[in-house]
Amino acid sequence: MPKLKNQQDILKLREAGRLAALTLRHVEPHVLPGASTEDINRLVHDFIVAHGAYPSPLNYKGFPKSVCTSVNEVICHGIPSSEQILKEGDIINVDVTVTLDGYFGDTSKTFFVGGPETISDERLKVTEVSAEGLARALAVVKHGARLGDIGHAIQSYAESQGVSVVRDFVGHGIGRVFHEEPAVAHYGKAGTGEKIVRGMVFTIEPMINFGDWRSKMLKDGWTAVTPDGKPSAQFEHQLAVVGEGIEILTALPDDAIALRAKELGAHILWPSGF
Ligand code: MF3
Ligand code: CO
Ligand code: CO
Repeated sequence: MPKLKNQQDILKLREAGRLAALTLRHVEPHVLPGASTEDINRLVHDFIVAHGAYPSPLNYKGFPKSVCTSVNEVICHGIPSSEQILKEGDIINVDVTVTLDGYFGDTSKTFFVGGPETISDERLKVTEVSAEGLARALAVVKHGARLGDIGHAIQSYAESQGVSVVRDFVGHGIGRVFHEEPAVAHYGKAGTGEKIVRGMVFTIEPMINFGDWRSKMLKDGWTAVTPDGKPSAQFEHQLAVVGEGIEILTALPDDAIALRAKELGAHILWPSGF
């Protein structure tokens, strides 16, 4: 049984989630052709530290950098490098996690490098399906639903679009620990799995592959790539189950995925104004 969070915990998690979201917003205009993934790492690191927080990936189980940057066929956990220069037409997931006053905030987005007209159909497809899949998943989360409802929402949509869901990495409980129970699979059957209850805080972070759903680990021990070299994309939000709905702790008030989830029927109590 995952540890449930109280009102005081949730107040702190809102602060951590908001800082993580603001960090993504801070880096977005710098995700441009010619920038290196190390440039993004430095922007993320300096912004988080300037706000009195710690970039959680740094030294986490030996991860060497402050953010994950996953380009094109990289599924997740890409390691920033000054040798890796972004080009027009690339897609890049920037996965930010902060530790603020002992609480974690974890969120990611996939960005286009250059205008949307420069992005290949395959890269566009995985990016759109991961964003829409996350919105559909957020719309089914509430007290009394089951974890399998989340997996089903994502998998049924992804497969209807002819793309595949990564199984080797899952969403996770989060609070004063980076990764804790429950494990939140992005595939599954409706009505199955653990019951979702008020006080749970977890992430949903679907990784969508254009081709084969499997992953392959590079020799660095971190970088997960698609076995067929086809693109992969991911979006991530962190939420709390409260009242009759959810708080999306890592959404700012104009968040496109949260707006889409609301359109799909999500009852969103935070950020306020939804
Ligand atoms: N932010 C990732 C997640 O969503 C975890 C990154 S762990 C790291 O769970 F060590 F690679 F940074
Ligand atoms: Co996460
Ligand atoms: Co993350």
